[in-house]
Amino acid sequence: MRNSPKRFTITAALPYTNGPVHIGHLAGVYVPADIYSRFQRIQGNDVAFVCGSDEHGVPITLKAKKEGITPQQVVDKYHAIIKQSFQDFGITFDNYSRTSAKIHHDTASEFFKKLYEDGKFIEQTTEQFYDKEANQFLADRFIVGTCPKCGFEESYGDQCESCGTSHNATDLINPKSSITGNTPSLKETKHWFLPLDQYEPWLKEWIVKGHKKDWKANVYGQCKSWIDDGLRPRAVTRDLDWGIPVPIDGADGKVLYVWFDAPIGYISATKEWAEREGKDWEPYWKDQDTKMLHFIGKDNIVFHCIIFPSMLKAEGTYILPDNVPANEFLNLEGNKISTSKNWAVWLHEYLEEFPNQQDVLRYVLTANAPETKDNDFTWSDFQARNNNELVAIFGNFINRVVVLTNKFYDGVVPEPSTLSEEDVKTLAELKLYPSVIESSIERYRFREAQAELMKVARLGNKYLADEEPWKTIKTDEERTKTVMYLSLQIASVLAVLSEPFLPFTSKKLRKILDVTPSAVEGSLQWNDVSTKDIILPPGHTIGKGELLFSKIEDTQITAQLAKLEQSKKENEAANRVVDAQKDTCSFDDFTKLDLRVGTIIEAKKMAKTKKLLVLKVDTGIDVRTIVSGIAESFSAEEVIGKKVTVLVNLAPRALRGVDSEGMILMTETPDGKLVFVNPDTSTSLSTSEDGVNNGMTIN
Ligand code: MF3
Ligand code: ZN
Repeated sequence: MRNSPKRFTITAALPYTNGPVHIGHLAGVYVPADIYSRFQRIQGNDVAFVCGSDEHGVPITLKAKKEGITPQQVVDKYHAIIKQSFQDFGITFDNYSRTSAKIHHDTASEFFKKLYEDGKFIEQTTEQFYDKEANQFLADRFIVGTCPKCGFEESYGDQCESCGTSHNATDLINPKSSITGNTPSLKETKHWFLPLDQYEPWLKEWIVKGHKKDWKANVYGQCKSWIDDGLRPRAVTRDLDWGIPVPIDGADGKVLYVWFDAPIGYISATKEWAEREGKDWEPYWKDQDTKMLHFIGKDNIVFHCIIFPSMLKAEGTYILPDNVPANEFLNLEGNKISTSKNWAVWLHEYLEEFPNQQDVLRYVLTANAPETKDNDFTWSDFQARNNNELVAIFGNFINRVVVLTNKFYDGVVPEPSTLSEEDVKTLAELKLYPSVIESSIERYRFREAQAELMKVARLGNKYLADEEPWKTIKTDEERTKTVMYLSLQIASVLAVLSEPFLPFTSKKLRKILDVTPSAVEGSLQWNDVSTKDIILPPGHTIGKGELLFSKIEDTQITAQLAKLEQSKKENEAANRVVDAQKDTCSFDDFTKLDLRVGTIIEAKKMAKTKKLLVLKVDTGIDVRTIVSGIAESFSAEEVIGKKVTVLVNLAPRALRGVDSEGMILMTETPDGKLVFVNPDTSTSLSTSEDGVNNGMTIN
């Protein structure tokens, strides 16, 4: 161990419990946080890695309304699914809690009370948006309007998802209630505000002066721009009925703002864990020697870098984050991932379709991590990275080493003879990897760190290809022993160094090589790679082979793409606005229409237009020309011979120089397809005398 053990409090954003978790969550927050936490534990450091479900706030209430269940039922359902997904993907939280837990209600209430009693809030009666029809105040996501900063038309009341700005609901331009769609009115109500303006000089000092160099450019830049814009008091309470009741007198019907209570969830989760483990939680939050880190997505930056630190500062006894390594967003096949639009790869569904292939997803998400800019996940890239990197390089190398060792030496690591110059160089190079990877991880560059890991596998693959032990076994037994010995050292290094990134693979590989903690002396630790000359000693017997990765077939990828295509279709159908019924048409007006059954006898596309077909129609009265705007839905060939309904007494009009004498009746099906109003030619098609129509709509 190089340094004495250090204490880490590592938090990962509490996911909203209004849906399952998807690849965007994993890539942006949980995989990097897990790599970092695993790495620190491997270093022998003292780690509290905490998370939990964010169960308050308007998104939960909206979901409950939509599904016709209670908010508690919503959070119970998704808390279970989310918790399971994290466990399935090997995210090693020391505690995964939830904000509806009693310990959290108590912790958040006490925190609020302390600030209240210390006079840290401003109590103010202001006008807030109110929906008279829904009979409630409209906070946060209950209200949508145009962002005053960037002009995005669907900004929420507390934050614009387009530019990330956090604002007060009353700043929105053209606000609308998300419940009824009404324009809200204003109504007076009392709330408690955290005067962020008072923290501005301190924040400037702490972030701008203190963290300029070590915070990521995106995080630092966002913070600086908010501070430069000037901070204003922020309400930390809301008029809602779902949340933690404001714990003071005279606050009936009010709850804590979800962004006030949720980050305190990190503290509650640490307390709950410490209680369970018989530890003291306080050093993890109050000891200056503790390194506290918040792993989040970019939409959470303001809350973790400005608001929560100001809350902690106001409380006075807490430490502040050392770093907030926020990621940008991951898109999916070129579009923004969206829970409501079902444009996502859900973790629980992934596992059904790619069972036991957690590491493949972890690998691809890290290789493509949106660390400095938004990135795109595509299924073809997923397949290529699996087949060309994990299978062809990592898996192939291990497989050859294990198969050959078992075949040549019954699985016993051979004694090397004289090392070649190349061998000495390779062994020396191997020793450098732990610190190279460590340096990338410590700078939160996880894709770079994983790329370094893959270099070890590439090195092994190349070594085998160059040395060809399967050939030399017939000509030079001694050289072959050395080559296999060295290959086994590389394989062992891979088993150790892959643990933070590919934990399932690392475990499997340790089993294959029989370097599980009990088998090899000292169990083979991270630092052994750089300090020990022999990693896997001659005479040690390895286990039997097992495939680490398997090829992903084209059919699996096509199936995933088809699933996304299906979501897109369902979305289009759900979003289609059905035109409202037009004003009443009198019976007298209707009888003016002279409708006939006609047959299209000629059709051709009108030159230089996209939409128009020029038709010759036999109406029974005559053969006439009708220009119809249907060319985008029907070809000229397919309409020839078709029986159609024709409005024959429509006033003639010239379209692009062709006189059109009448109209072919068309309408749209509920799913938006243009169709002919087909006459059933076996019965007559006149409007009956009693005015009961025959179901036609005129487009
Ligand atoms: N639920 C929030 C989101 O998904 C994150 C909350 S992080 C916490 O964006 F700090 F408030 F816990
Ligand atoms: Zn905006």
